Amino acid sequence: MTNTDPATLSEAQAAQELADLAARLAQANRQYHTDDAPDLTDAEYDALKRRNAALEAQFPHLKRADSPSDQVGAAVADGFGKIRHAVPMLSLANAFAAEDVTEFDAGIRKFLNLGADAPLTYTAEPKIDGLSLSLRYERGLLVQAATRGDGEVGEDVTANARTIADIPQHLTGAPDLLEVRGEVYMSHADFAALNARQTASGDKTFANPRNAAAGSLRQLDPAITAARPLRYFAYAWGALSEPLAPSQSGAIARLKALGFQTNPLTVQCHSPAALMAHYIRIAADRASLGYDIDGVVYKVDDLALQARLGFRSTTPRWAIAHKFPAETAWTRLISIDIQVGRTGALSPVARLHPVTVGGVVVSNATLHNEDYIAGRDAKGAPIRDGRDIRAGDWVQVYRAGDVIPKIADVDLTRRDKDAEPYDFPQLCPECGSAAIRESGDAARRCTGGLICPAQGVERLKHFVSRGAFDIEGLGAKQIEMFYHDADLPVKTPADIFTIAARDAANPLQKLKNREGFGATSVTKLFAAIDARRRIALDRLIFGLGIRHVGEVAATTLARHFGTWPAFERAVTDPDTRADLLAIDGVGSVMADSLIAAFANPAERAAIDALVAQLTEVEPVIWRVADGSPVAGKTVVFTGTLERMTRAEAKARAEALGAKVAGSVSAKTDILVAGPGAGSKATKAAELGVQVMDEAAWLALIGA
Ligand code: IVH
Repeated sequence: MTNTDPATLSEAQAAQELADLAARLAQANRQYHTDDAPDLTDAEYDALKRRNAALEAQFPHLKRADSPSDQVGAAVADGFGKIRHAVPMLSLANAFAAEDVTEFDAGIRKFLNLGADAPLTYTAEPKIDGLSLSLRYERGLLVQAATRGDGEVGEDVTANARTIADIPQHLTGAPDLLEVRGEVYMSHADFAALNARQTASGDKTFANPRNAAAGSLRQLDPAITAARPLRYFAYAWGALSEPLAPSQSGAIARLKALGFQTNPLTVQCHSPAALMAHYIRIAADRASLGYDIDGVVYKVDDLALQARLGFRSTTPRWAIAHKFPAETAWTRLISIDIQVGRTGALSPVARLHPVTVGGVVVSNATLHNEDYIAGRDAKGAPIRDGRDIRAGDWVQVYRAGDVIPKIADVDLTRRDKDAEPYDFPQLCPECGSAAIRESGDAARRCTGGLICPAQGVERLKHFVSRGAFDIEGLGAKQIEMFYHDADLPVKTPADIFTIAARDAANPLQKLKNREGFGATSVTKLFAAIDARRRIALDRLIFGLGIRHVGEVAATTLARHFGTWPAFERAVTDPDTRADLLAIDGVGSVMADSLIAAFANPAERAAIDALVAQLTEVEPVIWRVADGSPVAGKTVVFTGTLERMTRAEAKARAEALGAKVAGSVSAKTDILVAGPGAGSKATKAAELGVQVMDEAAWLALIGA
């Protein structure tokens, strides 16, 4: 945006600036309302709107038909602030069958080294189908309410939360700092009445109580939220200045005593069988509860055990959600389309006659792979009793959780006589390259690599995604545009970093003059791209989009190697495969995939070109408490550990920022040797690695 006095502008200049402003503000509105990802602050947005109004006042005849001044609707200026959660809001692992529940119990016992008969208490409670909300109380006063968001950063909905009767504004006798977590929901009766009111007033109705609750809580005007009958159950907590109780059930009782609603169907159970019995009881009551639930949550009751069990990357080890079977519906399969993904997999997608499943209209469903369509599993055993799926069939659709809908079954009695079995393509529908299936791979994959436009686009989308380079203003839509662009084509990640220079070098076509762009947005985009020339090693490795290397693996590799050259050496030197395999969390499939990617000349060239565009690859930032004595150290455990299992030892060491390796090498810093330590202790002694027993290790980490 310029600050030139409007009175000094020529008509042409004013018209150009008004066009830029219209495009920029339209983009900001889209990002805010559609993508939920505004890239302007409220103040910046306001400033652009004011500038637009000033120009229009000076040049009334230049006011555009699509002038931002005339656009009504919620302004970004009123958007919710963002709140970073003091303790992340995690999700839960799922169980679907009774075996998953016994496995959950067995896994916990194994982790904690508890025998099958050792007493172990769980809590079991309904899983409320609403949206989670974190309430922060300081000295008993409600000071902040935040939605879950992406788990790390949520939206500030404090003013709205204050209008919910179930949420106390003051607490008496609470810890100085208390973050209460629970679910906002709407009862069936209130939902029906709300929809009736919406219909009467000609407003849009909600598909289900969860959408109604979410839509009502995320209102920019708290008066609207206040008029919506929202409720709240408390079931967990975040940051605390002192523990609420020694147990989960005690903590819930405490929350109840403080004035929160807690679910009356919460019980203690002493065995997986008791958990199952409570699940069946709740399932039987489900229809008469008066609000939606989608399963039963089991939690280890003892909070000291919860602390020992800790967390996987996004879910606690001490809890699981036992889901109810998904709702299903029958509909007609119109056709089967093939989508080509980032790693070349040809994924069949069912295009369906739209049908409502669990309150949501579904018109696409995944068909997984060619075996699934043919009615067999990866090992060739029949699924659906061997019934295949054909275009035109009647199929049964279900939605498990929030994931993309799936097809459970097919009705052969309704199949057209002339329906043909589906012929899975042997060529990539996007680039015509051979699509081949390697043994052991469920997917048929396009062999076109970087020449395949579908793979190219998907890789770029992955490259700019949140866990990778996360470039603001460069989302899936912009990637599609640039990929096919004649003036500023972006075919590989390195091309992203040359857009600005290429745009500057082109005297005729400027990006800022394009539909959907504008001077401000282009400046911002170039700045956002430039900012990522400095990137953390884990994001870089993840961003490469190498098959089998997900976010967790990328972090493991980045922590292990620390620098790009060290990582690069390890995946390009033929002698280092064993070193890769020695990393805990890296198996032969991943190691071979990394080696193959770097051995492929085209891939390698693309990677080198990208790295040449970067100015600094930062070592990963350890997300651990300051002062961890073992952060960054490589630790190996050997022999028998007496006070904890291997899994627990590893999880704890990693939580403190240590790397845990499976074998001793010159890179090992500490060998923790229990009784019976054999060759590893000998090797450590030879290499001069520090060796300590379990007690010394526990003392070192302050356990
Ligand atoms: S405990 C560390 N208990 O389910 C995890 N969550 O799938 C703490 N939910 O994001 C969550 N009812 O929104 C817990 N009784 C319950 C719940 C519950 C519903 C939601 C919650 C969470 C999601 C995880």
